[in-house]
Amino acid sequence: MATKLDNDQRARAERPSHVPIDRVYEIDMYALEGIEAGYHEAWKQVAPAGTPDLVWTPFTGGHWIAMNGETVKDVYSDPGRFSSEVIFLPKEAGELYQLVPTRMDPPEHTPYRKSLDKGLSLAKIRKVEDQVRQVAGDLIDKFADRGECDFAAEYAGTFPVHVFMALADLPLEDVPLLSKFARQMTRPEGNSPEEMAADLQAGNDGFFGYVDPIIRARTGGSGEDLITTMVNTEINGAPIEHQKAQGLISLLLLGGLDTVVNFLSFFMIHLARHPELVEELRTDPIKLKRAAEEMFRRFPVVSEARMVARDQEYRGVTLKRGDMILLPTVLHGLDETINAEPWKLDLERRKIDHSTFGGGPHRCAGMHLARMEVIVTLEEWLKRIPRFRLKDDAAPTYFSGIVAAVENVPLTWAPAKSA
Ligand code: HEM
Repeated sequence: MATKLDNDQRARAERPSHVPIDRVYEIDMYALEGIEAGYHEAWKQVAPAGTPDLVWTPFTGGHWIAMNGETVKDVYSDPGRFSSEVIFLPKEAGELYQLVPTRMDPPEHTPYRKSLDKGLSLAKIRKVEDQVRQVAGDLIDKFADRGECDFAAEYAGTFPVHVFMALADLPLEDVPLLSKFARQMTRPEGNSPEEMAADLQAGNDGFFGYVDPIIRARTGGSGEDLITTMVNTEINGAPIEHQKAQGLISLLLLGGLDTVVNFLSFFMIHLARHPELVEELRTDPIKLKRAAEEMFRRFPVVSEARMVARDQEYRGVTLKRGDMILLPTVLHGLDETINAEPWKLDLERRKIDHSTFGGGPHRCAGMHLARMEVIVTLEEWLKRIPRFRLKDDAAPTYFSGIVAAVENVPLTWAPAKSA
């Protein structure tokens, strides 16, 4: 995996002349130093208090990084200065990525976004809650009596995927293939930007090839599933172009497959280490429903980028058109100047400020679905497994990238009969 590479193998970019030497920090987004201790911990460690708002790293083709919450938020909210023309790093890979409408700026982005909002509206999501609850319950029932499971493999890696496949009316046997494409796109492997670009391109092509016959079959159809809704959408009064539909449906698959999967494991590790929080959630159903927002703040998983749209002075440095700025959302939710005691998952927290779902016109279109998946997971889990912990020899493995990942999450509990 990219994160296991020897740092020295990875091509380093020359420092461009407009980058001051004191802004150069050696940060490899795909192989963060200290990642063994945790993804969020590693990012915070490379961005201690006093770090400039923007630093430049020679890794991953050379790019800027927004190092605190104010900067992450500001860049997200200003598409005029910070474009979505390229959003994945290395830039060579990001230029090949064709998912729609993430690489469009307003006004081109707006009609596609309206369709997404229609397909993933709160009302639509509420309609599928019972179906989602059934999926969660069935999965947990498979291992609840066993008294142990690998949460990442047996629940987190499966639940959001099953939910999404049901919403999209796709067969479950396709999941391993789609998960592979998602990994290639969000944590591409390779020793150089070019090799990583090739891996990302393979993932992108994989998605496009997969959705092509599905789109053709559902165009003009009357099904209620998410794909049929989206492919029969109109863009500025005309049917959506086939290639754009491929990009849009592929994005939905990617969004629905990789983010929630990893987010769920991060927060379950935390709950397993904090039985007092589990008790609070178990005994207060209203608190549980409100807990999702604080969990999203505490466990951001996405780090994608924006491209500088024009030459400008910003946060004390000169930026050139085409420069890339990485936006680690972890550095917003866990910014102590914005959220006091940021490491604490505080179910009573009043003002919760984060960019876990991005910001500005591209703010996550799937957040109602994500929120519902989190609440339903907690409700169904705690009904069956009221107390649980990490196994004594547990050693979760963390990976950094565009979407952070975690594997090996062995949980243990007293099965119902003996509880
Ligand atoms: C914990 C779960 C999730 C997280 C942390 C997350 C995070 C994000 C972020 C940071 C963006 C902004 C991308 C950008 O500005 O370039 C985004 C966009 C998006 N997400 Fe999510 N997401 C999650 C779940 C989902 C789900 C379940 C879906 C369902 C399909 C989804 C669909 C999308 C779509 C379609 C966009 C693109 C919106 C646009 O370009 O206008 N996401 N997400």
